[in-house]
This record gives sequence, structure tokens and C-alpha cells, in this order.
Amino acid sequence: MLILGIETTCDETSAAVVRDGRDVLSNVVASQIDLHQKFGGVVPEVAARAHLKCLNIIVAQALQEAGITDPAAQLAGVAVANCPGLIGCLLVGTAAAKGYAFAWNLPLIAVNHVQAHLYSVVLRDTQHAELRTQNSVPFPAIGLVMSGGHSSLYQVHSFHNLRRIGQTQDDAVGEAFDKVAAILQLGYPGGPLIDKLALAGNPHAIKFPAGHLEKDSLNFSFSGLKTAVLYHVNGKQGRQRDASSLTAQQKADVAASFQRTAAEMLIEKIRRAAARFETHALIIGGGVSANTAIRAAVTALGAELNLPVFIPPMRFCTDNAAMIAGIGYDLLQSGRVADLNLETIATL
Ligand code: KG4
Ligand code: ZN
Repeated sequence: MLILGIETTCDETSAAVVRDGRDVLSNVVASQIDLHQKFGGVVPEVAARAHLKCLNIIVAQALQEAGITDPAAQLAGVAVANCPGLIGCLLVGTAAAKGYAFAWNLPLIAVNHVQAHLYSVVLRDTQHAELRTQNSVPFPAIGLVMSGGHSSLYQVHSFHNLRRIGQTQDDAVGEAFDKVAAILQLGYPGGPLIDKLALAGNPHAIKFPAGHLEKDSLNFSFSGLKTAVLYHVNGKQGRQRDASSLTAQQKADVAASFQRTAAEMLIEKIRRAAARFETHALIIGGGVSANTAIRAAVTALGAELNLPVFIPPMRFCTDNAAMIAGIGYDLLQSGRVADLNLETIATL
């Protein structure tokens, strides 16, 4: 059973074809990084227009790479991320998916983008031999999605039966990485640049405050950590100096210390959740799950708690349509089909 997936929630235009919810036959991603770089962040209106320009071409390429010549006959459904995300961007993908579903007389499947990130751990990449061996996840699991827009902790009964048990109170963790990269004048998007710079730094050089909220809280707060980095680099009120006054080693130390603190904050919440709820596995997903220190910390926690850990392959950490098509299959199998009145929802 082949599902076409469409992803346009933020600054990646992506289309993919996935077989039986597992085998990725194609996954085309057009990144808009170049368009937004000069603004230091995603400009929603620019993003929406860029999706509009290239989505049909990306879909055609995904179909072609998957060997699909007659979509109406060969596909079983069209899955689209209709929430959460930038509203103009969601509208483009959702309107296009409705058009395809209507024209090809196929079921339309609505996917929650954040939840779909966790599905990335079971995708098999037919083009990359090393990524062909994902196992199935024993449920219930604790899942943590870390992205530019969300830090959400879930009790996962199945990939489409999740209960959110924690979320960020302010900045998402990816946003904190991007802002710290901006403070260090590294460029955009900041996560991968911090990750790289941290390799040269001492993670214990600076003691930044880790905000854990109340003793039992499963929520996150990253704005205090971000502000602590700002004051450390720029001085009191964040205005006395800037990152150009730091040596390369000092910058690397800030990156490494920030990254360690962020990883500890995330791990602490997974640990609390695993202690509170029946847990047979740990799952992470989202752009920040590409982070070297966070991947290592979650792996170590799994070993300590004697739980299997599921981490997405690097190419499925950031936004992609394969995860949308994959979970779309699961939803279709359980009869969760949308209609052409499907709405887009910016925040959940
Ligand atoms: O999931 P994603 O592609 O988009 C959203 O749904 O938001 O996540 C993008 C975020 C950005 O904030 C980016 O800086 C971060 O993921 N990111 C990383 C790394 N790679 C991407 N953060 C830390 N370390 C990385 N290696
Ligand atoms: Zn995402």
C-alpha cells in the first residue's frame, strides 16, 4: 500500500512516497534555508510563497522517484501535515493535498506534524542500505519531540494514540539552539552550528542554570537558559559587549556548556516520565534529535534504565514528508480518514 505524504508546516517543502508505512521509496525535501538566512530566521509569508512555488514540482519528483506513473491507480491515499505550523504554510500543503485526493479519488489523511516526528524511528530507507533495519517499538513508550517550534513529551500507546504529558512553557529547545547560535554570531539555522562548535569546547566550562520548574513538572522552560547565555556573552542586560569579544575557545566553551545543560534538562524530563508511567521504550524525534550530545545522553539513559532507545536516522530528524506518509498509513489502517473540509490548525 503506497501513501503520498506532503509536508509544508515550516520552511521545508517535502513530498514522499512510503510503502506499508515503512519503506521510503522517495523523500524529496526542498529547503528554504537560503531564502531565510539573511533575516536570521523563518519569515512566514516568504515561506508560504516558496511552498506555493515549488510544491507541485516536488510532488511530481517524489512520484517519479517512486516509479509511480498512475497515481490514481497506484496510490492508496494522500497524507498531509495540517497542524501545527505556520498557518500560511499549512494552507498551501493542505489545499494541494485536497486537490490531489479529489482529482485521484483517494482518501485524504490528516497528520499532526509533531506526532509524526516520532514515527521517523520506524522508517526504512530503501536508498540507504544502512538504514534498512529499524525494529518495531514496544509500547507504551515515552516519546520526546524536540524541534524548532515544539518541545513535547508524550506517553505513546501507539504512533497515533498519544497523550501529551509535557510541553514547553516558553521557547522550544530548537529555538533556544537557534537563539544561542545568534548570540554567538554563528549564523542560521543554529542547531547544527552549535553541535559542531561544541565538539571543540569544554561542556563543563560554564555553569548555566538548568530550569526544571517544579519538582514533579514534566514541562520545559528554555528561556532562562537562553538569557543566561546572553548575559554571559554580552554582559549585564545583554548590551555591554558581544560575541566578537570572545576567543574561539571561549565561544566553543559556551556552545558546549549550553548544549550539555539543554541535554540534561531534556533527559531529566524523560527520566521523570519513565519513572511515573509504564514504559517499555524511549523515542526521540524532531530536528534537535540530530544533536550529537542529546543522542548520546538519551542512549545512556536507556542503558541506565534498561530500556530500548529509538532515535531517527539523521535524514529523518528534520522536517520530511516520509514521516507524514508513514503515519498516514497507520491512520488509514485504523480508518482515520479526513474529508475535503479539512482545516488547518496553527497551534495545538
Ligand atoms: O523538526 P524541525 O526540522 O522543524 C520544526 O518542526 O521546527 O527542527 C528544526 C530545528 C531548528 O531549530 C534547528 O536548529 C534544530 O532543529 N537542529 C538542531 C540540530 N539540527 C537541527 N539542533 C541541535 N543540534 C542539531 N544537530
Ligand atoms: Zn518538525
